[in-house]
Amino acid sequence: MKQRIFSGIQPSGNLHLGNYLGAIKNWVKLQEEYDSIFCVVDLHAITVPQDPEILRQKTIEVAKIYLAAGIDPEKSAIFIQSHISEHTELAWILNTIAKIPELEKMTQFKDKSQKNGRESASVGLFVYPVLMAADILLYNTETVPVGEDQLQHIELARDLAARFNKKFGETFIVPKHFVKEEGMRIMGLDDPRKKMSKSAASEYNYIALTDPEETIRKKIKKAVTDSGSEIIYCDDKPALKNLINIHSLLTDQTPAEIEKMYAGKGYGDFKNGLADAIVNFLKPLQERIGAISDAEVLDILEKGAAKVRPIAIQKIFDVKQKLGFII
Ligand code: AMP
Ligand code: TRP
Repeated sequence: MKQRIFSGIQPSGNLHLGNYLGAIKNWVKLQEEYDSIFCVVDLHAITVPQDPEILRQKTIEVAKIYLAAGIDPEKSAIFIQSHISEHTELAWILNTIAKIPELEKMTQFKDKSQKNGRESASVGLFVYPVLMAADILLYNTETVPVGEDQLQHIELARDLAARFNKKFGETFIVPKHFVKEEGMRIMGLDDPRKKMSKSAASEYNYIALTDPEETIRKKIKKAVTDSGSEIIYCDDKPALKNLINIHSLLTDQTPAEIEKMYAGKGYGDFKNGLADAIVNFLKPLQERIGAISDAEVLDILEKGAAKVRPIAIQKIFDVKQKLGFII
């Protein structure tokens, strides 16, 4: 029996190189060894305001990106979170055992709720990590491959699983995270102290996977660098380190090999080389995205949901029985 992995991305904003290098790139490899489930988490996306038409487009786009990046629907199940209503059902149940202080300490909640003022933050945003725990626990997930920013949420999923098991008897697998050192934290191009993010204030923070060549070149040209002129990979030069990381991950070279390639050259040459590397990687990806029709992706999503639904139904049945619900 293969071990199961589960992961997801929100269809909010533009997917960027951080999402690819921190998450999707690893999923493509992991699907060879694991029983894999990848979700487009639309219920999570609406914890902050979304335009319905754009949400619809982005949900389809995220699924196309999964496919274009190499997620194989024959090997992995790809589906839309809201197609399986058991996610919200389990989230409600887990809400009753999650504690207010453990949600209050979540850094993502603190960051996101501060953005527009705590008064306007939705209750959905507050309980977002509980829904994420439900996503994971519903499918007997053993491993959750994500970027570093999600570790605190996975810790909560582990705590809730253990708490439920202790109270009601063995029901959930306590999941572990999987993060790959390289790529787990791609930083913003405009500020290497903050992660590259879909919800960044400036579009110069990220390279979207769908950015056209001109935009990519412009953004790399504008990317902040550190003082000095040599291309060296070190912690004292966080902006350059981040750019070298991106280069290294996209061209499958070590940072040392990148340093060597640009020995004696300056930032101009390095940035041109980096922009070339990104364009060479994204162009074929974008062509593959463009070649997938909406009808094709909707069919794959429906089949994905059909594949995972029995697991979710079974788990909710078990949970309801344990709680003392009349079934
Ligand atoms: P999100 O964009 O919040 O839906 O994140 C989707 C996935 O991408 C999660 O596994 C994140 O941990 C990962 N991710 C998002 N931003 C970054 C980043 N800047 N560096 C590495 N991984 C990231
Ligand atoms: N919260 C995750 C993010 O923003 C997305 C997500 C939702 C997720 N449910 C999940 C990731 C379950 C892994 C497993 O990145």
